Amino acid sequence: MKLSVIILAAGQGTRMKSALPKVMHKLAGVPMLEHVYNRSMELGTDDIHIVYGHGGEHLHDYCSDFDVEWVLQDEQLGTAHAVQQASPDIDEDHIVLILYGDVPLIKANTLRTLIHNATADTVSLLTVDLQDPAGYGRIMRVENEVVAIVEHKEATDEQKKISEVNTGILALQAGCLNEYLKQIDNNNIQGEYYLTDIIELAVKDGKKIITSQPENTYEVEGVNDRSQLSKLERIKQQEIAEAMMADGVTVADPSRIDIRGELTVGNDSFIDVNCIFEGKVSVGKNVTIGAGCVIRDCTIADGCIIKPYCVIEEALIDNDVEVGPFARLRPGTYLQQNSRVGNFVEVKNTQLGEGSKASHLTYLGDTEVGSKVNIGAGTITCNYDGANKHKTIIKDGAFIGSDSQLVAPVTIGKNSTIGAGSTITRDTEDGELALSRTAQKTIKGWQRPKKK
Ligand code: UD1
Ligand code: CA
Repeated sequence: MKLSVIILAAGQGTRMKSALPKVMHKLAGVPMLEHVYNRSMELGTDDIHIVYGHGGEHLHDYCSDFDVEWVLQDEQLGTAHAVQQASPDIDEDHIVLILYGDVPLIKANTLRTLIHNATADTVSLLTVDLQDPAGYGRIMRVENEVVAIVEHKEATDEQKKISEVNTGILALQAGCLNEYLKQIDNNNIQGEYYLTDIIELAVKDGKKIITSQPENTYEVEGVNDRSQLSKLERIKQQEIAEAMMADGVTVADPSRIDIRGELTVGNDSFIDVNCIFEGKVSVGKNVTIGAGCVIRDCTIADGCIIKPYCVIEEALIDNDVEVGPFARLRPGTYLQQNSRVGNFVEVKNTQLGEGSKASHLTYLGDTEVGSKVNIGAGTITCNYDGANKHKTIIKDGAFIGSDSQLVAPVTIGKNSTIGAGSTITRDTEDGELALSRTAQKTIKGWQRPKKK
């Protein structure tokens, strides 16, 4: 069986009140349309067609890596008209699955069941029972067989009581779909071409309508405004947190975590409240991540302790490293085993060797730090001369006294010591003490200035 997917995404999305096309709004860090695209890919689809409308021209730029046919629906004349923009290009014997760019949480398993039920003799329809079915198309059954869908606006009071509704998601053979689409008119209250009319046409054509239902209602919920988006966001986050917990990770509060991308965490790790993970983050086993950390595109190995309120981007952290609280690790940071970066330390494009420490109030930029180095409070690598960046090299066992400035390019020798408060502008010798302070003197009898 060959499968084609048509994703409808031509809706204006006016209720989002946004310059961005609705389907580009993100859920768990990924545009809604990409969620639907990813599900389509998971099904082993042969071709995907995305129907977009005016204002959606930029979708191709945003989604340039999608392997899809982009189809413009010039005027939005209804869901049948939208499908018709794409379906004539699909081989007759393919099964066509209709999805929606603003229904992002649909699950692959739900769709697999749906597709499985679609044959040359059937139309497979995803329905759901709602306590409040207002607004939806109602599923009409006669002797339990589906015979039609009646749109809410067209429904009689009696029909409005039906709680089984149309999700809009369905699958059928392309040849039949195209036959039925030709027969659909817009003689209805909204003057639209209703895709739902194909059910009645299929029944007339002797097809059987087979219904299936999603495991959870939220799978078929659409997003029309930012409030609905936030509701689905929390559902998605809860789902990700549940999966992590099932894999042996303790999440302090699954309602206070945000994963906007791909996060993998080893077992017996602990994530405290209000952490945000972005991009691709990999966390090892037995790692503790304190409250309020923001972590993007990082690898953090086993046994690390990330204390509260750290911002960590594009960093690589080896085993048993301690970071924070209040540390900032910028791109190109590499912290080797057992090293430590403490509070109010900023690190950029810097390697910190095994067992080395920068515990307080320090800036390390473009620096290579060896092993067992102690960097005192208030140390600053002066890596930028106003035009170019330069490197600082601090060799194994060095000790940098507090409040020192290391003016790059400069090399601090192996086991050398820098006296506190020094400004170091030349390379220092291995094993020796270097300092650049003026000797302390006493000015006897000096008087403090007095207020006039
Ligand atoms: C549709 C169904 C209804 C179902 C409901 C589920 C029809 C006629 N009705 O109603 O039975 O219960 O979905 O949510 O299909 N779209 C286009 N081009 C168009 C019109 C719509 O791309 O010309 C897209 C929209 O972007 C949207 C989707 O199709 O994502 C649904 O369209 P909408 O007009 O909202 O249909 P509903 O009235 O919700
Ligand atoms: Ca809708």
